[in-house]
Amino acid sequence: MSERPLTPSAIPPQRIAALRAAEAAAYSAARPLSRAAFGDGIANFLGGVPMHWMKDWPLPFPFIVREAKGATITCLDGIKLDDFCLGDTGSMFGHSPAPIGRSVARQARRGLTYMLPSEDALELGRLLKDKFGLPAWQIATTATDANRFALRVARAITGRDKILVFNGCYHGAVDETMVRLRDGKPVNRPGLAGEFRNLTERTRIVEFNDLPALEVALADGDVACVITEPVLTNSCMVLPEPGFHDDLRELTGQHGTLLLIDETHTISTGPGGYTRAHGLEPDMFVLGKPVAGGVPAAVWGMSARVAAWWSRYCETKEPGYSGMGTTLSANPLQFAAMRATLSEVMTEQNYARMIAGAERLERGLAAAIARHRLPWHVARVGARVEFICAPGPLRNGSEAEAAHAPELEAAIHISLVNRGSLIAPFHNMMLVSPATTNRQIDRLVANFADIADRLAA
Ligand SMILES: Cc1ncc(COP(=O)(O)O)c(C=O)c1O
Repeated sequence: MSERPLTPSAIPPQRIAALRAAEAAAYSAARPLSRAAFGDGIANFLGGVPMHWMKDWPLPFPFIVREAKGATITCLDGIKLDDFCLGDTGSMFGHSPAPIGRSVARQARRGLTYMLPSEDALELGRLLKDKFGLPAWQIATTATDANRFALRVARAITGRDKILVFNGCYHGAVDETMVRLRDGKPVNRPGLAGEFRNLTERTRIVEFNDLPALEVALADGDVACVITEPVLTNSCMVLPEPGFHDDLRELTGQHGTLLLIDETHTISTGPGGYTRAHGLEPDMFVLGKPVAGGVPAAVWGMSARVAAWWSRYCETKEPGYSGMGTTLSANPLQFAAMRATLSEVMTEQNYARMIAGAERLERGLAAAIARHRLPWHVARVGARVEFICAPGPLRNGSEAEAAHAPELEAAIHISLVNRGSLIAPFHNMMLVSPATTNRQIDRLVANFADIADRLAA
């Protein structure tokens, strides 16, 4: 253990690189079947994987999954990992919870898509209203689409063409949210492929928690909608400062701007999301990923005022395609999976278990960090925990981006995998599901402490 607190750069890069290389070799040697299967796959998929994110894991080749159940995921080589990534939230309630499995299997015998409602759909509508408090809902297939459609409604009814996002945001592959601040100036997000438009013409961007900047950006009265997560989760987690959400609501209201809360990740907070737990009052609400337990589905809801406004708009709208809706959205498999998720899985009881586990994990990680006097911190939103290899708390997206230490995080990630714990690849995110046991949590803490030991030695 060192005498003085370490700065992130005080861990010598050679030590990080050596750890990563040794762990990569161990990962590879332990998985001959996966390695061979991945080699074969390259011929058939662009870049060797069916979706390019699958190559973004800091592993020599992906963990090729044989099966996943509860909070355990098993690869082709039969190696089991405690899964704290849980599909980056899609499986936040564990892999294939029994009520969802039953419901999906039942529906699979009754037809997979009709472009018509089913009995499950009627019940789903009631459940959505009860859980989240908004009275008017639509179903989409991804949270990306739900956000896109909600933004379209906001622009249509307000007659304003601009939206506002917070720096560091992520709301799925929604083009108009793909902007960043660079040295305080709005720019297209670096790395976008095939984007020739200047997205900053219609998207304003300010830092999260910066209320004076928000006020200035809304002052012209031309912003249709602010879209935000209640807590920024895309980079390292950024929590709202006290009063931020009250003032955000007030300022948007004053300037005739709608407020869209995207709960796709922060649903980790509780059964009604961060919105219900903290009494937020959004005009529109989006939830994707875990809402159907991993079956592709998302929901977007609106307040009575926005729904009535939309109805009036539709009475005068010229006929033709609205630009919203996709053929497989609102299909009976989604209804069945969402009905089971909302009524039998997203329960107070399950959340109580998840949050108790997450608190245990938070305590364990924080203790290991303190023991090694590392200048790192732990952030948590309900069942979602992150260790961040920089001091905290972080106040905005710029600080969150600067807090990333890619090489160090990659070395920790692969070291955890080799010790039996899988965490999210893009940030150091860990989810505790109702199926996650204290044993799995304690193993993750012990693994993390062991790695911290090596790094800080
Ligand atoms: C906050 C938030 N909203 C929306 C999305 C998009 O979800 P999907 O990829 O399912 O469209 C994500 C994905 O990570 C997200 O983090």
